[in-house]
Amino acid sequence: MKQWVLILGCSTGHGGATARKLAEDGYGIIGFHFDRGDIKKEAEAFCEELKGLNDGRAHFFNKNAADSKVMDEFIPQIKEITGGEPLKLLLHSIAFGTTTNFFGERPVTQKQMDMTVHVMGTSLLYWVQKLFDADLLGSGSRVLGLTSEGNYLCMDGYGPVSVAKVALESITRQIGWELGQHGITANCIQAGVTPTRALTKISENWEEWIEKTKKRNPMGRTTEPHDVANVVQLMLQPGADFINCSIVYTDGGEHRSGTFV
Ligand SMILES: NC(=O)c1ccc[n+]([C@@H]2O[C@H](COP(=O)([O-])OP(=O)(O)OC[C@H]3O[C@@H](n4cnc5c(N)ncnc54)[C@H](O)[C@@H]3O)[C@@H](O)[C@H]2O)c1
Repeated sequence: MKQWVLILGCSTGHGGATARKLAEDGYGIIGFHFDRGDIKKEAEAFCEELKGLNDGRAHFFNKNAADSKVMDEFIPQIKEITGGEPLKLLLHSIAFGTTTNFFGERPVTQKQMDMTVHVMGTSLLYWVQKLFDADLLGSGSRVLGLTSEGNYLCMDGYGPVSVAKVALESITRQIGWELGQHGITANCIQAGVTPTRALTKISENWEEWIEKTKKRNPMGRTTEPHDVANVVQLMLQPGADFINCSIVYTDGGEHRSGTFV
């Protein structure tokens, strides 16, 4: 029987597609999502559907996974679910932050910046610390974060998320560097522009952004969540044991094209 994986941000987008792919592949899925209002039912229906894919080896929690109290509350439960066995994967695929500029009509506040950097960046570190202390990460475990081209390019409204991405990348690098000696690797997947719910929140002009991306991408299309799921699945293979402290580009070569077409 395949090991358990923990996916933060499992109900849609990259995390959702990965949860589905790995459930189909026989992994046990432990997922956190944070969905309120109109999207709550949709998210819960998705999670229920996944339970049907791997004989019910799936547990989902609609909780703020960036809250350290939630981490402390659920780690014993995660340990019970896995029977104390280390997780094969911790995937951080949370999209929740402030999208605004540093200057102008709505300059980002310190509170917004701190929240964005924590939820989309530093929260990964605290999960890894706590899971490692609980022996839930061990030889063969993978830590993966999701970054974007916004880690080095400037985009309207993306400043706070860009800061979070830089933090996330440096955190995964350092985790891999410190925990590599235990056979635990940590990497970031850099996805190209992907039409997900998060994208529609970054910009009112997201449809135009998608059209420009299709022209700019060498493969003539946007990245899709299943592209990321496929790469996560590859990263779980034994052949990926030595990929550590790296950025794995999953964008059809988009990051090699100029910003404008
Ligand atoms: N969409 C893109 O173009 C793109 C490109 C590159 C990288 N990324 C990155 O991929 C990751 C996932 O983005 P997406 O586009 O799949 O987003 P999405 O909106 O489709 O999914 C976000 C997920 O995060 C969950 N979530 C939000 N806040 C949470 C919290 N506090 N606790 C637990 N779960 C929470 C949601 O419930 C949902 O499951 C993000 O880090 C994003 O920056 C996205």
